[in-house]
Amino acid sequence: MTENLIIYFSRNGENYFKGELKNIEKGNTQVIAEYIKNECDADIFKVEEVNTYPYDYEECTAIARKEQKQNLRPEIKQTLTDISQYETIFIGFPNWWGTLPMPMWTQLEELDFTGKTIKPFVTHEGSGFGSSLNDLKKLCNGGKIKKGLSISGSEVYESETKVKLWVHE
Ligand SMILES: Cc1cc2nc3c(=O)[nH]c(=O)nc-3n(C[C@H](O)[C@H](O)[C@H](O)COP(=O)(O)O)c2cc1C
Repeated sequence: MTENLIIYFSRNGENYFKGELKNIEKGNTQVIAEYIKNECDADIFKVEEVNTYPYDYEECTAIARKEQKQNLRPEIKQTLTDISQYETIFIGFPNWWGTLPMPMWTQLEELDFTGKTIKPFVTHEGSGFGSSLNDLKKLCNGGKIKKGLSISGSEVYESETKVKLWVHE
């Protein structure tokens, strides 16, 4: 039984990539989550919203902003409830308006992180973790948050070595 779990959120669709709006077939955070999985024996869980975010970047950012302002907990397709078998939890997400996308709040609030080692990772377009590490402290109460990994979304495909090193830190 593996002791590692990856919980992540990632969106495909239209997004800024190297300064241009493009269709991204695989979300940036998902690329990193898969590198982690390749590097260590880990189970992987993708948090997916029931009401799919729009393909259009601007529409998506508007909805995400509203969800954040209203402090909503969007419904998710599947909820993980028991992480007792795992020691290390990798938690990954894109920076959305300075912190974690709200579906991650829906998921993380369901879990008991007492005694767990948490390794956070983020992809972003300039803001790094923003205020998400403070939010994670609250969301993962009782867990020990280790050094995070922050990667610019446009550089995910050049980051495998960095990810591998960080996994073992
Ligand atoms: C709704 C939304 C809000 C975003 N807000 C920020 C932000 O505040 N700061 C930032 O650096 N990047 C922001 N971005 C860019 C994403 O963090 C970045 O493109 C990330 O790599 C996307 O990851 P994904 O493809 O796994 O979803 C935002 C993107 C979206 C769609």
